[in-house]
Amino acid sequence: MGREILDGVLSLVNDVSKGKAYMALPEHIAIIMDGNGRWAQQRGLPRIAGHQQGVSTVRKVVEECSRLGIGYLTLYAFSSENWARPDDEVQSLMSLLGQYLGTELPLLVEHQIRFRVIGDLEKLPQAIRESLNETIERTQHNRGLTLTLALSYGARDELLRAVKAVAEEVSCGKYFIADIDEERFSEHLDTKGTPDPDLLIRTSGEMRISNFLLWQMAYTELYFCSCFWPDFDAAELKAALDDYESRSRRFGTVSS
Ligand code: FPP
Repeated sequence: MGREILDGVLSLVNDVSKGKAYMALPEHIAIIMDGNGRWAQQRGLPRIAGHQQGVSTVRKVVEECSRLGIGYLTLYAFSSENWARPDDEVQSLMSLLGQYLGTELPLLVEHQIRFRVIGDLEKLPQAIRESLNETIERTQHNRGLTLTLALSYGARDELLRAVKAVAEEVSCGKYFIADIDEERFSEHLDTKGTPDPDLLIRTSGEMRISNFLLWQMAYTELYFCSCFWPDFDAAELKAALDDYESRSRRFGTVSS
């Protein structure tokens, strides 16, 4: 038994020294996948071509996170504000999402990935909601990476929905105002049961949070890179993870 543990530690040290493993891997990575439109524009292509290429990046990043043993990956795929984009772009994004859901299940099953979704799903087309529910149901017992898509998601909207749900329970007499604490409140958020993100990555050089996971990112490490989402790959992810590894996370306290 002692020998097995020692061998395990030696193999980990070996991997770390060769850059194959990380000493501090984030349990939860959240990504703002930005720059699809500019990627397409630079090539004289329609914006939707950037989103199509963006889907193939999603696939690669999901596989890489699963391979690395990341616990949770949350992708900002469509914000509550994105509904205000031109109709044809919204339609194209919805149909890309439909295609993605229609083809992705075998990959999710192969990698034991559990699929979840956050956001105001009522606004999504009925067919998409049905595909989402089916994918969630068919992957619910998987034990690998939890992949969450944020769809029709806005953090302010999520917080307001949570406040209303808590107020409703107080008015029904389920508990008192004094009983509302962070834990109880978090249970009313879409992300219930998911740990807060350790690392946020935003591509395309923009340095904003854009109404994403505002409650959950209180102590998240932020990482911004200049490449557009369609160009993001395993090497870019590695650069983000290397940077994360160098951070000193104190959560408002002092280093030990
Ligand atoms: C931001 O780029 C990206 C989006 C608003 C949509 C992200 C969607 C995908 C990656 C494809 C769909 C995903 C799945 C999982 C099916 P932008 O359009 O704002 O780019 P820009 O800032 O350069 O204009």
